[in-house]
Amino acid sequence: MKEPKFIVIEGLDGSGKGTQIALLEKFLVDKGFNVCLTCEPTKYATGGLIRDALGGITKRTPHELAALFLADRISHCENPADGIKALLNRGVTVICDRYYFSSLAYQGMDIGLDWLLPAHINCPAIIKPDLCVFLDVPTSECDRRISAGRSSREIYENKETIERVRKSYFEVFERLSGTHRIKIIDAARPPLDVAKDVAEAVSELFEGVN
Ligand code: TYD
Repeated sequence: MKEPKFIVIEGLDGSGKGTQIALLEKFLVDKGFNVCLTCEPTKYATGGLIRDALGGITKRTPHELAALFLADRISHCENPADGIKALLNRGVTVICDRYYFSSLAYQGMDIGLDWLLPAHINCPAIIKPDLCVFLDVPTSECDRRISAGRSSREIYENKETIERVRKSYFEVFERLSGTHRIKIIDAARPPLDVAKDVAEAVSELFEGVN
C-alpha cells in the first residue's frame, strides 16, 4: 500500500487552487492512490461561524476570528468520521485547500505571530502536513479573477488586502522554512504547466517510500 500523505495547497484568493487541486487529485488517483479532498474553513459548525464572519454577516474581532479558525482546524484534524487524522489512518492521502499557513498569513497580518504561531505548532491536536504548495500569482491577476468570478467580495478580497496577504505569506514561509516542506510555484502560467510542477513536488514525497 502507498503510504498516505497530507498535502496542503495554499494561495491567495483567486490563485486557481480549485483547478490545481482537481488536477492533482486526478494525477494521484491515476497513480493508484486513495485520495480525499478537504478544505478550510470546514463544513463543521465552526466553519459556518467563520463563513458568516468572512461574508460580513457577523462581526468578529481579529483574535476571535483567529480562535475560530484554530478551533475549526482542531475539529478538522480530530473528527473521528472524516477528520484528517482519521483519513490518514485509513490509508487515504489528504489534499487540503488551505491550512494553518492561511491563518498565519491572513490573521497573522492583523494580530502578529507571537500567540498564533505557537498556538498552532505546539497544539498536539494539529498535525503537520508533509508538504505545503503555494500557488503564487501576482495580486493584480488575483483581483481580476475575483472580479470575473463573483458578484460580492469577502472581507479579505480587496486589492490592497491581497497585496498585504501575499507579503505576509512570504514572511510566514521564511519563519517556517527550517521546519516545513514548502514549495512555491509560479501559478501565473497555463494550468497544465502549473499542474506538472505541482505533481512533481508531490511525487518527490513518495520517492523511496514504496
Ligand atoms: P474561500 O471562500 O474558501 O475562498 P478560497 O477559494 O480563496 O479559499 O475563503 C476562505 C477565506 O478565508 C480566504 O479569504 C482566506 C480566509 N482564511 C483565513 O483568513 N484564515 C484561515 O485560516 C483560512 C483557512 C482561511
